[in-house]
Amino acid sequence: MNTYPVWIDCDIGVDDAIAIMAAHALPQIDLLGISTTCGNASQENTYRNAHRLNGLLGTDYPVYRGAVSPLCRELLTASHFHGNDGLGDVDLPVPPDAVYRVETAWDALYDAAVKHPHELRLIALGPLTNIATAFSKYPDLPGLLHSMLIMGGAAVGGNITPAAEFNIYCDPEAAELVFDSGVHIIMCGLDVTLKALLRPADWDELAATGTKAGKFVRDCVQCAWQFSQKFGLSGVAMHDSCPVLYLAHPELFRAEEAGVKIETRSTLTLGKTVTDLYSDKQFDEKNATVVLDVDRDRFIEILKNCIKSI
Ligand code: BDR
Ligand code: CA
Repeated sequence: MNTYPVWIDCDIGVDDAIAIMAAHALPQIDLLGISTTCGNASQENTYRNAHRLNGLLGTDYPVYRGAVSPLCRELLTASHFHGNDGLGDVDLPVPPDAVYRVETAWDALYDAAVKHPHELRLIALGPLTNIATAFSKYPDLPGLLHSMLIMGGAAVGGNITPAAEFNIYCDPEAAELVFDSGVHIIMCGLDVTLKALLRPADWDELAATGTKAGKFVRDCVQCAWQFSQKFGLSGVAMHDSCPVLYLAHPELFRAEEAGVKIETRSTLTLGKTVTDLYSDKQFDEKNATVVLDVDRDRFIEILKNCIKSI
């Protein structure tokens, strides 16, 4: 079994938190650091949530502050789904020994890539502002990474608008810079993530184990569950666990190579990840592996085992 050095950039976020719990538990992942960006909640809250998660896990993953706003747009948050604090407004303290680092997200990410040239897997679970900032400041960074796995976009449809997925819509200019950077991207978009549903019986099973981790998962998804039911979903989509589990268990997924470009100008389709998957006209370059489907039952089984092992 291979173990990969991994960096996670995220906007923690209910499903970001569960994805980090999975990354912590999976033996294929050696998590080197966590950088936080604004998105699901303000930068202040996502940074605080990373520390709260360290407290829950009993870990001291280094946590770094990133962007407080998108590159050139107003900040958009998602309290309707993630609660006001980003973690479903559950009671989870910041540990008293939390370490507040002064190094920025982009500098810390670059340092990790330099230490692990062509080996580091960068997992991005929020808007791509920190990554675009890092790529602009360090033009050699895309070439130092092994690959990027992102939760973002969709070959078909959207969530925050009919055409766009939240992470890409929040900062389309950042996404364009990242998709055009030359790094190979494994794109877990809504095509696959909306199939990765954690259902009430699953979180009841986790809570029944009596662990802090199991109860946390049940409690933090409740706000998202209220919202998800309005759309007829039978559970809460584990969007951000998809790239994490893809890295460890690619055999669970179906994916195709594609060219992907980002719409940054149109108002109607702003933030759309335009793919050439279903088109006669093909883009010049296949810059992404677009993940389209997952074996939901095996995915959730592995995810639950991760949470149970904490
Ligand atoms: C994505 O947006 C956020 O709300 C989730 O954390 C996920 O990364 C889904 O569109
Ligand atoms: Ca996220």
